[in-house]
Amino acid sequence: MKTCISFFLILFLVVVSAKEYDGVDDDDEQSFPGNSITTFRDIPDYSDFEDDLTFSYYHKSCPDAEAIIQRKVDEWIKKDDTLAPSLIRLQYHDCVVRGCDASILLDYEGSERNANQSKSLRGFEVIDDIKAELEKKCPKTVSCSDILVGAVRDAVRIVGGPFYMVPYGRKDGRVSKAKEAESLPTGREKITDLVEFFQSIGLNILDLVVLSGAHTIGRTSCGSVQERLYNFNGTVGRSDPSIDPKYLNFLKRKCRWASEFVDFDGITPKNFNNEYYKNLQKNMGLLSTDQMLNTDSRTSVLVSALASQPEVFTSQFAASMVKLGKIQDPSSEGNGEIRLNCNYINA
Ligand code: HEM
Repeated sequence: MKTCISFFLILFLVVVSAKEYDGVDDDDEQSFPGNSITTFRDIPDYSDFEDDLTFSYYHKSCPDAEAIIQRKVDEWIKKDDTLAPSLIRLQYHDCVVRGCDASILLDYEGSERNANQSKSLRGFEVIDDIKAELEKKCPKTVSCSDILVGAVRDAVRIVGGPFYMVPYGRKDGRVSKAKEAESLPTGREKITDLVEFFQSIGLNILDLVVLSGAHTIGRTSCGSVQERLYNFNGTVGRSDPSIDPKYLNFLKRKCRWASEFVDFDGITPKNFNNEYYKNLQKNMGLLSTDQMLNTDSRTSVLVSALASQPEVFTSQFAASMVKLGKIQDPSSEGNGEIRLNCNYINA
C-alpha cells in the first residue's frame, strides 16, 4: 500500500514538474541562478533537440567498444575506487553545460575544465586511456562524449548501483567556456535555484532529488562545508543549527582545514544505496543543498519515498542517468566531431 501511494506520488510530481518546465514563459526575464548574465530567454529549448541516439550505434563500426570501456573502467576502479564517484560527477558536469559533448574534457586556458568550479574534478586519465585503446581498435569512430557516458554507466554498476542501457551517437563539441561552467550550483544555493537550474536543462524535480542521490558515494573538500561549520550566515563561530549535534562534532574534527576531504555519506560512504536520503532525515546531509531537500515541501516528499524504498531509488536513478546522458545542446547540432584526443578539438 505504502509503495503504491509513493509510486503515484512520484508519478504526480513528474507530471507537475514537467508542466512547470513547459510553463517557462518567453516573457519571463528571471535571472539564471549564480549567473547574472544568462537569463531563461538565452537558454535553448533542450526538448526540441532531435534525439538520434541508438543502442546499436557502434554495433557495426566498433563492436567491441562497450567491452573495451567496461574492461578499462574495471581495471581503473580496482586500482583506485575513489575514481567511481569522480567519474559520475564528471558526467554531471559535462552534460549540464552545453549538453553531453565532452566539452568538460577540453583542456586549454578558459575551457570548462579550467574553471574554478571544475578544480576538484577527477577521472580524466580514465577517459584518455579508453580513448587511446579505442583509437587503436576503431580509429576516428567513438566519440569522447559516448566514452564518458559509457564509462559512468560501468562505474555506477561497479559500486553497486543499477545497470542501465545507454544509447550512443553523441558528437564531441568544439566549444568550451570556463564562464559557463561557473554557473553550476556550489552547494550554497536555495532549492528554488536548483530546481530552476535543472529545469533550464530539461530535468525535473524528481531528477534533481534522485540524481542528488549520487552523493551516496564520494567526498567533498572541506572548503565546501566550512561555512556551515564555523561561519553560518556570516556569523563567526556559529554552526548551522540544522546539523545533527554528533555529526557536527564529527565534521568539525574532520574539517579543520579547507583542503581536507570528508565523505558525503557518513554511514556507508563506499556503497551505492539510499542511505543518503536516510541521512537527510537524520539531519546528516553534508552540503546545505543536500540537507534542504529534506525540508523544502517540493522535495521532502520525494526524500521520504526514496529513503523508505531502496528499489525506487535504484530504478529511478537509472532512468534519470539515461535522461542526463541525453541532454544535448540544440545550438551545436551538426557542428560536432569525433575528437582524436579527448583533450583537444581536431585541427
Ligand atoms: C544538485 C546540485 C548539486 C550540487 C550543489 C553538487 C555539489 C557538489 C560538491 C560541492 C561536490 C564536492 C566538490 C569538491 O569539493 O570536491 C560534489 C561532489 C560530487 N557530486 Fe555533486 N552536486 C550536485 C549534483 C550532482 C549530481 C546531479 C551528480 C551526479 C549525477 C553529482 C555527483 C557527485 C559526486 C559523485 C561527487 C563526489 C565526487 C568525488 O568523490 O570525486 N552531484 N557535488
